[in-house]
Amino acid sequence: MFPINGYQLNSMGDMWKLKVIVQFILSKMPLGEKLNYIFQKLNNSHNAEETKKKIFGLLALIKKTEKYQSVQNASVVEIGTGWQPIYSLLLYLLGAQIIYSYDHLRHVRFGLTTMIIQCIGKSLDEISEITSVPKSILVKRLKVIKDCSSLEELFSKANIIYIAPGDASKTDLENETIDIVFSYNVLEHISKEIIYNLILESKRILKESGIAIHIIGLYDHYATFDKKITKVNFLKFSEFWWTFFVLNTISYHNRLREKQFLKIFEQHGAKIISVENRIDPDDLKKLKTMKIDKSFQGMSFEELAIHRSEIILSF
Ligand SMILES: C[S@@+](CC[C@H](N)C(=O)[O-])C[C@H]1O[C@@H](n2cnc3c(N)ncnc32)[C@H](O)[C@@H]1O
Repeated sequence: MFPINGYQLNSMGDMWKLKVIVQFILSKMPLGEKLNYIFQKLNNSHNAEETKKKIFGLLALIKKTEKYQSVQNASVVEIGTGWQPIYSLLLYLLGAQIIYSYDHLRHVRFGLTTMIIQCIGKSLDEISEITSVPKSILVKRLKVIKDCSSLEELFSKANIIYIAPGDASKTDLENETIDIVFSYNVLEHISKEIIYNLILESKRILKESGIAIHIIGLYDHYATFDKKITKVNFLKFSEFWWTFFVLNTISYHNRLREKQFLKIFEQHGAKIISVENRIDPDDLKKLKTMKIDKSFQGMSFEELAIHRSEIILSF
């Protein structure tokens, strides 16, 4: 038996390197995206429990950002929809006017989307309580999209324009027409040059009152697969090693730290409104004893240990 589940593979040691190799091979294959989806399905990555967690994580975030920009009647651009259009669906439910969701790859599947809608349907009381949107309104909006028979119909009824393949750094939207630009676990997966282009495009399309919200996963993603390594493990490796094995179309992680992101935003004309981050004491402890690659010199252990950053900015 060769289980896919990371916890079981764990016992074999250095399992994250096996994942690096599999992703490296997949990235060189023409059907890489489809095979990646099959692996994700085998690993049950988008199960109902995980989906529910994501729904409530995003609701907490929407609640937190309401003081800067309401989602009611908002025009929103999402950078990097991914496999599950949870943020877009929640925005529709909470009354956004239009949601443009861009992705380089057309990952969204109808089946996964109806599963999100079912999860939302089971949690309407809690959603109403968190967001203060009356349950009767949520029920009414959910009814509109509940029985759709295709993704196209569903997105059209939910005012979601899914642009995939599409590039959020070249939206073709009018200047200063957008209230919120949003990304979740995207900016860590792209090159600095693409980050620059995305910031400049956000600056162009956001209204004066608009905001950009970026949630950035600054941790070694292989640590979720292999529990033997920490979230700072990847800071050991040289740029050469990391670029050769990990920077590919399936597993790209730029390893930029929060401090570097903030500098990039400010250099491109952004005003930082708020920054919230998370540090795990175990990572901090590990950093004090492990080898750290010279490319991360000049940053404190605390700066290096930040594994998640929520950055809100305006222009
Ligand atoms: C790791 S996934 C995260 C997806 C989703 N936000 C989530 O949290 O599940 C990053 C996604 O961003 C997309 N992406 C990266 N750069 C992009 C760009 N410039 N425009 C549109 N999508 C982009 C990738 O194709 C990928 O689907």
